[in-house]
Amino acid sequence: MAVPSDAAQRAEQLRRQLQQAGYAYYVLDDPIFPDGVYDALYRELQALETAHPELIRPDSPTQRVGDRPANQFPSHRHAIPLYSLENAFDQGELQQWQERWQRQGEKLLGELPTFDYVCELKIDGSALALTYEEGVLTRGVTRGDGTTGEEITQNIRTIRTIPLRLAVENPPPLVEVRGEAFLPLGEFERINQERAAGGEPLFANPRNAAAGTLRQLDPQVVDRRRLEFFPYTLHLPNHPPLKTQWESLELLQQFGFRINPHCQRCPDLAAVWAYFEAWEQKRHHLPYMTDGVVLKLNPIPLQTELGFTQKFPRWAIALKYPAEEVSTTVKAITVNVGRTGAVTPMAIMEPVAVAGTTVQRATLHNADRIVELDIRVGDTVIIRKAGEIIPEVVRVLPDLRPAGTVPFVMPSHCPECASPLVRPQTEAVTRCVNPQCPAIVRGAIEHWASRDALDIQGLGEKWVAQLVRSGLVASLDQLYTLTPEQLLTLERMGQKSAANLVGAIAASKAQPYARVLYGLGIRHVGKVNAEMLTQAFPTVAQLAAARVTDLEAIHGIGGEIAQAVYDWFRTPHHQALIENLQSLGLCFAQPEGKSSGQGAIAPLTKIVGQSFVITGTLPTLSRKEAQTLIEQAGGKVASAVSSKINYLVVGDKPGSKLTKAQQLGIPQLEERELRQLLE
Ligand code: IVH
Repeated sequence: MAVPSDAAQRAEQLRRQLQQAGYAYYVLDDPIFPDGVYDALYRELQALETAHPELIRPDSPTQRVGDRPANQFPSHRHAIPLYSLENAFDQGELQQWQERWQRQGEKLLGELPTFDYVCELKIDGSALALTYEEGVLTRGVTRGDGTTGEEITQNIRTIRTIPLRLAVENPPPLVEVRGEAFLPLGEFERINQERAAGGEPLFANPRNAAAGTLRQLDPQVVDRRRLEFFPYTLHLPNHPPLKTQWESLELLQQFGFRINPHCQRCPDLAAVWAYFEAWEQKRHHLPYMTDGVVLKLNPIPLQTELGFTQKFPRWAIALKYPAEEVSTTVKAITVNVGRTGAVTPMAIMEPVAVAGTTVQRATLHNADRIVELDIRVGDTVIIRKAGEIIPEVVRVLPDLRPAGTVPFVMPSHCPECASPLVRPQTEAVTRCVNPQCPAIVRGAIEHWASRDALDIQGLGEKWVAQLVRSGLVASLDQLYTLTPEQLLTLERMGQKSAANLVGAIAASKAQPYARVLYGLGIRHVGKVNAEMLTQAFPTVAQLAAARVTDLEAIHGIGGEIAQAVYDWFRTPHHQALIENLQSLGLCFAQPEGKSSGQGAIAPLTKIVGQSFVITGTLPTLSRKEAQTLIEQAGGKVASAVSSKINYLVVGDKPGSKLTKAQQLGIPQLEERELRQLLE
């Protein structure tokens, strides 16, 4: 059956519109359609393609996830090999590299060529080579061994920051783009949490997770994992050569890619080193992992002259930050019982310097991870520390294992209170479920006293440990009956400190209901959820009586949270605790006639319900990331400036929104100020 021409035209139109909308959403972070409109257009195209399969094009947005799982990955030989980079770790090595290429350049050209550099962040992911024929993505291949990789086109099509069709009118007939696919840190954590909950082994780091995801057989799984991509090399065979690396990056941007916004041109090594040093700390605020800076000679004719050694380009080098993976030996394996009773195995190691600090403990996550690693006391292990993430054991080096080691077995009983540990079948976590367990009590009191909860000054870890050990406090309510005389029985407690602590505990009775609810440490009830729950249920009696369906009806409260709150209030021990705390004078209701948005949790009240607009490029956050942070803290992000807006967040090259906000007298925030507000 011939396809009606209007159907063909409409399909083409829909493809274009969806392509533009996807680009605006994923690459520019600046949506042009509401989600509902996008969905409707997408479904219309899907329906047309189902009715007329001849209309399906490889660049159709519907082809991002194919129905057919790829059951094998054919290998593909790269037309141009994917080289790796030589590493430099200090200024001396960098200087030597410059001297080397300059000597070579002088020899080849008869004089020292004029040059400048481009610095790019070295993204810690998985390299990909993408081929576009007549502007359409036809092949995506992994790096493999540099010569031959695996063709994983179907999986690559799920990556929203990779255009399926180049966004220019007359693209060169053949285009090869190389770059790094990576998992943003938030996505990495989400996937690992999901895997932990499902009892699956965890990914050791975002790089492994990205590589593992790309090689997934089911593209639907890849699609759910939201990989991203930054391109860094452009090859245009049979095309006049590009002049500079910078021009390549600009052209990649015109083609519809999102290039890393932090690339910078540098005239000399002094500027390069300043860039490298500036990013050493700043990179920890990026939502993805970087392990260094890639330095490239900007003029492409000079790159071509210099060429490659056996392994590396002579015109580029990776400047690496101090190792974040080092080896050490395991002295002991212990388990730590947290506030929620979760039992986390920890490796105690020979102290070792990693990423600028000395570490001697690393998390082993859970029992499954221990089995997977087969880690034993005496083993040599590779540990990794990145940014704020606590160090973890990446792998064991079995060849270095001494004789006579034995596998570690998770304890069957709590090391703190000796009650039997429990591991629900659906969870990877082993727990102590004895509410009187000293570790759980200590954790509960520390959380109760913490800054965002009851904010009890002076009640730190040290006193909490003593209070629990001495038997003076076995539950939160007992804090409020402590006398200075009792406190004086603690080691190193003086008259003045005792009086101050009793005073600080008493003062916490004035803290508002939302802080009290947060302080109770109910699973999944963080600051934001506590605020929402107290708004929806202004007294604790109402909250305790709420059914799961009532709780789920609150916007932003999902099924898991609702169930956790419901279960918490069904526990007799918790009911007694609330009763006691209430009779001691703690606040379990919203003040009458006053919206709880005011004065409940200090940092939050500043932004709950407030509207923000973002303009320009922020120094470290993408728009979507800034939006997520604002929303997580209870704020809203709008697309247009109006008198209803509370703040304009201003980045580099702000648009007309800034002028409008100035006219309306709307306060402006830089990213730094936004972060302070959200803290
Ligand atoms: S350029 C011939 N640029 O680092 C040019 N590589 O150790 C070679 N990488 O395999 C690559 N960010 O996976 C280049 N901005 C960047 C990069 C980058 C990350 C990775 C890439 C490569 C490895 C080299």
